Amino acid sequence: MPIPSIIAIDGPAASGKSTLGRRLADSLSYLFFDTGVMYRAVTWGALQRGLQIKDETEVTNLAETAQIDIRPASKEDGRACDVLLDGVDITWETRRPDVEANVSPVSAYRGVRQALASQQRRIGLRGKVVMVGRDIGTVVLPEADLKIYLDASAEERARRRYAEILQRGGQADYGQILAGVRSRDEIDSTRAFSPLRAAGDAIVLDSDKLNADEVFSKVEALCR
Ligand code: DC
Repeated sequence: MPIPSIIAIDGPAASGKSTLGRRLADSLSYLFFDTGVMYRAVTWGALQRGLQIKDETEVTNLAETAQIDIRPASKEDGRACDVLLDGVDITWETRRPDVEANVSPVSAYRGVRQALASQQRRIGLRGKVVMVGRDIGTVVLPEADLKIYLDASAEERARRRYAEILQRGGQADYGQILAGVRSRDEIDSTRAFSPLRAAGDAIVLDSDKLNADEVFSKVEALCR
């Protein structure tokens, strides 16, 4: 069997999708594309311009007109890639708490999803890609050669986010992070357009029971 060319990895926030995707893309020499950064870039742009996040028309207009570029990392500061919005490097801005708090409602807008998903699809169809998101196997690239759905409990995912923040020297409250994870899960999985769910033909892995190395070994074995 040939190595799958289009690999889709979906799952909820902090389930380990990016870690897996990055490692897999490195080992196969494929492009790694984390689609969540596009939703984050639109959210940051909306906040920066003082738009009301509730204003679907304005936010959608921004998603349709903004120039979002994802490029190979230009700095060794822990980033997976550069994220540019209209030519400005906003890589770390997309991780700010105000972006985190507003990205789920932005990504629930139909027009925003359509604008971003068509760009993602164009890139994905070139092949040799590991694309990570919520709807890659179901909507963006239903023809993907391999679909993985990586799941984990809300508690485990909140624990990981908490540890990540402390490791970067930040401060955090576990209870607040857990509440944030649950609230994003709720919005992401109940939205009307392309809700978070596993594709019928996805392989579901539970990262509560498997550590990062075990998840990687399983998926790599499926590829080769
Ligand atoms: O994976 P992440 O935390 O960077 O994603 C940020 C938000 O974008 C999250 O609320 C879900 C949404 N998202 C989405 O709806 N579809 C995708 N393909 C990727 C992310």
